[in-house]
Amino acid sequence: MSETLTIALSKGRIFKDTLPLLAHAGIVPKDDPETSRKLILDTNRDDVKLVIIRAADVPTFVEYGAADLGVTGKDVLLEHGGEGLYEPLDLKIARCRLMVAGKPGVAPSRRLRVATKYLTITRNYYAAQGRQVDLIKLYGSMELAPLVGLADCIVDLVETGNTLKANGLEPLEHIMDISSRLVVNKAAMKMKHARVKAFIERMSEAVENNSHK
Ligand code: ATP
Ligand code: PRP
Repeated sequence: MSETLTIALSKGRIFKDTLPLLAHAGIVPKDDPETSRKLILDTNRDDVKLVIIRAADVPTFVEYGAADLGVTGKDVLLEHGGEGLYEPLDLKIARCRLMVAGKPGVAPSRRLRVATKYLTITRNYYAAQGRQVDLIKLYGSMELAPLVGLADCIVDLVETGNTLKANGLEPLEHIMDISSRLVVNKAAMKMKHARVKAFIERMSEAVENNSHK
């Protein structure tokens, strides 16, 4: 039997959006992470396993070679730093925008206070403009921060804008477009080169197919 390829995925929208791409590469998982408690999923291929982990942990598993490959948002990748990883392919799935958002028409007289889980991206964004801000690290529900006076604005992902609207917030500044990327462990790229290369090629074709739909 040939060597095993292990692919790391988070179980939310990334799993859902990656499924059709994997199917194009001939890989079909035997379990659904939404209903199964298994963290290692077998597939129709004996030599391909999927590991299901938190979205923010995908780059770490791939960096350390606990998975050969992974699918992760560019937001997560930039926060992680991308050390030890190749990023050969934009999968063009789980697309959204990273934005500054806040209450309309609020301009504090003191230094701007920004709540986010994206500390690195946010620090770099304001630093590049020479703007001094205070950052408050949160782990979720960022939209609440301006409503309860914890921060003046937030940096978070926006897709439809429904979450902002439901909380009386507006998009204020566009930081960058986000999509999910295929990442590869650097050692696996060398040691399992033929298999990894073939997999990247099939995934690349699948992305092309997707974009013509
Ligand atoms: P966790 O494992 O931390 O619970 P999750 O299972 O919700 O996270 P996914 O939904 O699979 O994770 O992926 C999260 C990624 O999807 C984000 O890092 C971002 O790149 C992208 N994303 C997040 N929110 C949206 C959105 N509203 N629309 C489109 N893409 C999004
Ligand atoms: C993301 C993000 C926003 C929301 C934006 O949250 O953090 O809250 O999506 O999407 P919208 O513009 O279409 O409303 P997600 O749904 O991933 O929830 P979570 O952060 O609690 O996982």
